[in-house]
Amino acid sequence: MPPAATRSRGIGESGGHASRVSVVRCIVASMLAAVVVAGLVALVFWLVVRPKPIEYTVTRAVARHVSVTGDAVNATFYLTVAVDNPNRRVSMRYDNVEIRVFYGEDTQLAVADVAPSWHQPRRNETALQVRAVARSAAVGERAARELERDVAAGEVAVDVRVSAGVRFVVGGVASRYYHLRGTCSPVNIGLSPSAARSFKSVPCDVEI
Ligand SMILES: *[C@@H]1O[C@H](CO)[C@@H](O)[C@H](O)[C@H]1NC(C)=O
Ligand SMILES: *[C@@H]1O[C@H](CO)[C@@H](O)[C@H](O)[C@H]1NC(C)=O
Repeated sequence: MPPAATRSRGIGESGGHASRVSVVRCIVASMLAAVVVAGLVALVFWLVVRPKPIEYTVTRAVARHVSVTGDAVNATFYLTVAVDNPNRRVSMRYDNVEIRVFYGEDTQLAVADVAPSWHQPRRNETALQVRAVARSAAVGERAARELERDVAAGEVAVDVRVSAGVRFVVGGVASRYYHLRGTCSPVNIGLSPSAARSFKSVPCDVEI
């Protein structure tokens, strides 16, 4: 009897080992299956939605009343920023849209009034017409001297920066909130009255 008991315990043990192995196999197999299914879902979503990048372009820029006194600047910028959503199935919801005019890397001249939130339909291009006013903007000595030189030369080079919160909407379902940053640089604005007509559009680098 003892040998049989030993044998049966032996069988029981090896049976337990076998079933543990098959449980592990089953878990691994279902994890692999889940990965494959998730991959297929992502692939089908990608093929159906075909997401394309959103494009920002400064298509018009005019500066008026540019004056520099000491290290303070007055100026009024009229900008047109074209926002192109080329997607067939994705619409956009924008929040906290801000357009700023910078002189150099870190000297902010003016902030534009933009509709803070709006919805952009699919395959839509919208031109945002904004006015940004610098009122006694303190820019520091160096930037002020450079700006005076630019004004004397008849052309000011600024950076236009766009910042917005954005949600992508596909089939009525909105994605989470992403922070979009666009930098359009350099935007060369001629100061002569006829300069606006020869303005060359400046595409923006957009990061999400
Ligand atoms: C800017 O405009 C303000 C009035 O809005 C005026 O007091 C100031 O002297 C102006 N500064 C420059 C640099 O022209
Ligand atoms: C783009 O969408 C806006 C509404 O957000 C609409 O007023 C405008 O007409 C649309 N433009 C085109 C070209 O469809």
